[in-house]
Formats: sequence, structure tokens, C-alpha cells
Amino acid sequence: MENRPQWGSRAGFILAAAGSAIGLGNIWRFPATAYENGGGAFFLPYLFALLTAGIPILIMEFAIGHKYKGSSPLSLARLSPKAEWLGWWQVAISFFISIYYSVIIAWAMSYFIFSFKLSWGKDTEAFLYGDYLKLAEAPGQTGSIVLHVLIPLVLVWIVTLGVLLKGIKKGIEAANKIFLPTLIVLFLIIVIRAVTLDGAMEGLHAFFKPNWSAIGDGKVWIAAYGQIFFSLSVGFAIMITYSSYLPKKSDLTNNAFITGFGNSAFELLAGIGVFSALGFMATQQGIPIDKVVQGGVGLAFVVFPQIINEFPAFKQLFGMLFFASLTLAGLTSLISIIETFVAGIQDKFTISRTKSVLIGGGIASICSLLFATQGGLYFLDVVDYFINNFGVALAGLVEVVLVAWVFKKLSSLQQHANEVSDIRIGSWWKICLGVVTPLVLGYMMFDNFRKNIS
Ligand code: PHE
Repeated sequence: MENRPQWGSRAGFILAAAGSAIGLGNIWRFPATAYENGGGAFFLPYLFALLTAGIPILIMEFAIGHKYKGSSPLSLARLSPKAEWLGWWQVAISFFISIYYSVIIAWAMSYFIFSFKLSWGKDTEAFLYGDYLKLAEAPGQTGSIVLHVLIPLVLVWIVTLGVLLKGIKKGIEAANKIFLPTLIVLFLIIVIRAVTLDGAMEGLHAFFKPNWSAIGDGKVWIAAYGQIFFSLSVGFAIMITYSSYLPKKSDLTNNAFITGFGNSAFELLAGIGVFSALGFMATQQGIPIDKVVQGGVGLAFVVFPQIINEFPAFKQLFGMLFFASLTLAGLTSLISIIETFVAGIQDKFTISRTKSVLIGGGIASICSLLFATQGGLYFLDVVDYFINNFGVALAGLVEVVLVAWVFKKLSSLQQHANEVSDIRIGSWWKICLGVVTPLVLGYMMFDNFRKNIS
């Protein structure tokens, strides 16, 4: 426990935590989620979830990791021997996310290369599913590996595991210090160009136009909490693991606020960039904007290539900027996801870091190869659906209920955070975690479940 590695600097830790938070979820998940759940009105449940759940849980996870100095299963086991399983559950969710998250980064890398010649052509949908993923050629056949997906995927794993093998300071911290600032600069260029395109204002109007009736819908609130949890990487063992490498004197609360607001700022920026670009495309093609809005794979690999095709100038350059951003945003998050189970294995079996990286990363990378087959997209949808609908919000809810009510640790964690932080957290923090979050989230889930079965 004494010779646990440490971050080299406070900025290093914040960049790593923000690097984990800022990911594909910010770029391709947030804009469409907001649009589909009330547009401008979505900001209300979103901000509510950020302030009453996202940041308070972040403070809690930082305090757990910092106080108990272990990977999530070990820290939770030290919190209470009966809590270890929660850590492993979180590690398992992270593991499942990692096997498809890595594949998307691999696709983004391929599309970066395709940008040089705009190889996706005019029919970007046929290109993705047919030429690239080869789904059209072999319906129902899931066996064979598609080589041009496999090669970037192997590259993703080499980079990620390479970074992890170098350790906390020389690996994770050093990588984030380069990747995250680069990402922010690239993305700012994209957003500035996007908002000055023809039709950008129509796009922004569609994005911000509030549909107030959405506020009364439980589904919208679950979407807001789900977005906050996924986007801030809380409830996944990640922030507990990262904060276990903090030195004794570390301002936990302030770090949590910086990470939380930084992530949301990037999310808003991405929403503005994506919707400006969508507005531009709708105008160019003379179609209503709601016909072009989508999230996920479709947004990044079908719609964005089309938008780039329509660009007035420097098409190739913007293609490269966009897919480089996606790759960097993804890599810094993937590194954090893999670190959680690497750390979990290392603590549990007291083996060397090298061994646990090779075992943990090795298993995840082999599983991810499944997605390099012709049926990959099908698996991806299943896992993604499962994680988003049953994993994210539920894991967050269970975590706060257990820590607050079953193991009754909020007071001691509050005291721990206050001992090291400038900002002192008061009883509002305990009320948010112990009462508001469980009530709102529990009720919304129940309501949603009831509606689904009736
Ligand atoms: N927070 C990351 C994103 O927004 C994704 C992520 C989720 C990373 C869960 C780790 C764990 O894309």
C-alpha cells in the first residue's frame, strides 16, 4: 500500500480524469441525446443531474480512492468487506465497454486515413456497411475477420497497452498531457469552422429550441442521469482507481469541480459543433434537420463523411481533424477503462503491473476482435444497448445507496474530503447523495419500468 505509484502533478491528475471523462460520449452521444430529449429543455434535467449527482459522486469516488488507496474492488473492500462485489461489478461494466469502445476508435483511425482521399465516396452509408465492414457481402455470416478493421484495432491496443505498461506518471499522465490539449485545439478549430458555415444557425436553433413538455417524462430524466454518469465516467470504478494514485495532499473537491465542469463545457462545445454541421448539411441538401439528426455510429461514420463531402473548402483537412479528434478523445477514455481492471487484477492477485496489463489488456483485446468480424456491428449494438439501458444509471444508483445507507460511510468520506480540500463540502453533499439522487433516480427508473411493461 505504501509504495503505490503516484501522479507527477496535480495538473497531470486533472488531465487524466478529464481525459477519461471527455470521450466519444461527449462528441457523438450528448448532441443527439439532448436533441431527442427536449432540446434546450434537456439542459434542466442535465444540470440537475450534474449538480446533484455527477459532481457529488465524483467527489465521493475521489474520496474513496484517495482514502483507501486501491483499485475499485480493493478500495470498496476496505470501505467494507461486504462492498467488494460492487467494485467487481463496476470493473465488469468497464470491461464490456472497453471491448466495443476500442473498435470505434479503430474505425475512427481508418476514417482518418480515408479522409486523405475522401474514400467514402457519395454513398457514405453503403461505404460503411458494405465496403468497410463488409456486412452486405455476407448477411448472417459472422465468421471471418475483416482485415482493414483488424489492423487499426491492433494499433489501438498497442498504443493503449503501451501507455499502460509505462505506468501512471510516465504512461497515463504523459499520454494525457499530450492527447488532451491536442484534442481541445483540434476540436476548437472544427467548432469555429462549423458555426460559420451556411445553415449553422438553423442547426443551433434546432438544438437549443426547448420542448418543455419533455421535462415531465421520466425517460428524459433517466437519459440525463445516464448521460452524466457515462460522460463523467462515474460508477465505473475509473475515478476511484485514478484517485488512488493521488498524493496525500490533494484538493479532492476542487479537482472534482474542475473535472465535472470541464467535461460539460466540452460537451456543450461538441453539441454546438455537431448541430452547426448538421444545420449546414440540411441546408445544402434541402432536407429538414430532423431527418439528419442522429447519434452514435451513424453520426460519426455516415453523416459526418457526408457533411465533409459538402464542405466548401479543405474537405480533406476537416475530415482529418474530425477523425483525429474522435481518435484522441476515445484513446484517453479507453486508457482509463483498461486501467480499472488492470489495477483490479493487480491488487487482487498481487502481481506485477506488466503482468496485469498483459493479462487484463490481453483478454479485452482478444474479445474486441469479435467486432472485427463481419457481424461486429450486431454485437456492438447489443452491448451498447445493454450497457446504456441497464448498466450506467443502475450502477450509479446502487453505488450511492450502498455507500450512503448500507455501509453509512458518507460522513467519514465527507470528513476525509474536507481535511484535504479548500472548498468544504457541507450537508448539501450528503443530502444530494443520500436523498435526492436515490429518490429521483429510483422513482424515474420505477416509472419507466412500469410504463414499459404496461
Ligand atoms: N466518459 C467517456 C465518454 O464520454 C466514456 C467512458 C464511459 C469512459 C465509461 C469510461 C467509462 O465517452
